[in-house]
Amino acid sequence: MRRKIVVGNWKMNKTWEDARSLLMEINRFASTHKPKCLVIVAPPYPYLDRANDIFMHHVEVAAQNVSQFEKGAYTGEISAEILKSIGVKYVIIGHSERRTIHHETNEIIRDKVATALAHGLNPILCCGETLDQRVEEKHLDTVRAQIETMLDSVSSSQMQNIILAYEPVWAIGTGHTASPHQAQEMHELIRGILKEKYGDRIADETTILYGGSVNSGNADDLFAMPDIDGGLIGGASLNAGDFGSIINASCKHI
Ligand code: 13P
Repeated sequence: MRRKIVVGNWKMNKTWEDARSLLMEINRFASTHKPKCLVIVAPPYPYLDRANDIFMHHVEVAAQNVSQFEKGAYTGEISAEILKSIGVKYVIIGHSERRTIHHETNEIIRDKVATALAHGLNPILCCGETLDQRVEEKHLDTVRAQIETMLDSVSSSQMQNIILAYEPVWAIGTGHTASPHQAQEMHELIRGILKEKYGDRIADETTILYGGSVNSGNADDLFAMPDIDGGLIGGASLNAGDFGSIINASCKHI
């Protein structure tokens, strides 16, 4: 059975003082409730190591990005090897903010996936269409092209280490969540692509998260859909109470 997962993507938020309080609150929630779903938090890079110390075994830590390069003269970049060496196990790759603001292409993202896997990191791999692409009814083709390129050189056994996340760009930080029906349609398509490439077992076992304005009010309806296995949460993950409610909503559907 595939794992239910809730990931909090903090993006570029919180000074250390605020971050520390939030990490401790999330740790307290996880220690008390012992959620059956996997909880992962992706704070800014400088807090990864300290987050790992605070969480111990209750919550996992993810980086928000990784370099596609191995090592060397890439000022400001962080390699998969460096992340691995401080005990990070997960990394978000291909977020739409990196695609648009930092001009990451599907090919760059494919290379990031390769280096992450080579160093034993588990990619949380994002895809999703823009509003224009949806209005022009190109959303299914867009996401298919993203998935096919990003997974181009990923083998069946490597696929077991990948978590996928569908995040429609028009739903990120806008308050306009995809309806459960819209999200389910896309998740079903993504699982279908995995079936074509890797067969039924891998497709059935791959966790596919939904992200885009998930909050404590809409999480339950989204997570009730058969192909939605949890969430990639932005804004609502910056508040321990909201994040806890979303974790509870996900655990309900195990
Ligand atoms: P919001 O939940 O703030 O819409 O952000 C979603 C997201 O981008 C998570 O990676």
